[in-house]
Amino acid sequence: MNSGIATPVITVDGPSGVGKGTVSRGLAERLGWHRLDSGALYRILALAAVDAGIALSDTDAVAALAPNLDIRFTGAHEDDEAIWVGGVNVKDRVRAETTGGLASQIAAAPAVRTALLQRQKDFRVAPGLIGDGRDMGTVVFPDAALKLFLTASAEERARRRLRQLSAAGQTAILADLCTEISTRDERDRTRSVAPLVPASDAILIDTTLLNPTQVAQRIDDLLKDRGFLRS
Ligand code: DC
Repeated sequence: MNSGIATPVITVDGPSGVGKGTVSRGLAERLGWHRLDSGALYRILALAAVDAGIALSDTDAVAALAPNLDIRFTGAHEDDEAIWVGGVNVKDRVRAETTGGLASQIAAAPAVRTALLQRQKDFRVAPGLIGDGRDMGTVVFPDAALKLFLTASAEERARRRLRQLSAAGQTAILADLCTEISTRDERDRTRSVAPLVPASDAILIDTTLLNPTQVAQRIDDLLKDRGFLRS
C-alpha cells in the first residue's frame, strides 16, 4: 500500500476444478500482477500437520504450525511452477488429489482460517494481486476492485481434473473424481466459517460450456469495461 491508496486486487473464487488456476494465472500475466494461490496454503498446512504427526482434527495444533511455515512460490505457469516449503520443492505432493481432501478438512476450522488470514493479505503487493480461492472476495479481500466467481458442473470439473492429472502422468477414475469433487464442494459450501459462496458483488461466470479462451475473452471484456485493460 502507498499514499493511502490500496493496491488493487481482483478475486477469482469458485469450487475445485473450475479453472481458477488457469484464469488467475492468465490474469496475473496479462496485467503483470502477483498471484495468490490460497488453496496451496491450505494444502501446505495440511501436509505439514501430517508430517508432524498432528491429527487434522486437532485444529488448534494445526493452526499453530501456520506462522512458522517458510513458503515460497516460483514460476508463473502450471508447468514451471514450484512450491517451496523450507527450501524443498513440494509441488507434486501439494497438487496431489488426496492433499486437496486433507486441505478441505482443515479449512473448515475457524482457528486454521484465522491463522492463514494475515499470510494471505501479505500477498497484496503493488502493482496488484490476483487472489485465487474460495473466500477471496468475501473474507480476505472484501474491498477487491473486481470479484469473479466461476462455476461449472461437477461432471465437467471432474473431466477437466482427469485431463490435468493425465498430463501430469497421474491416473484417476472419472467417477471417483466426480464423487471426491462433490464431497469437497459440499463440505466447502456448508462449513460455518467462510463458506464457498459468491460475494454479493461478484460477477458469476458459468464455464461449463466455455473453453479457456472463451472464458479469458469474457473476463478481458470485463477488465476493459473497468479500465484495467485498454480496449
Ligand atoms: O483450490 P484448492 O483445491 O487448492 O483448495 C484446496 C482446499 O482448500 C479446498 O477444498 C478448500 C480449501 N480452501 C479454502 O477453504 N479457502 C480458500 N481460499 C482456498 C482453499
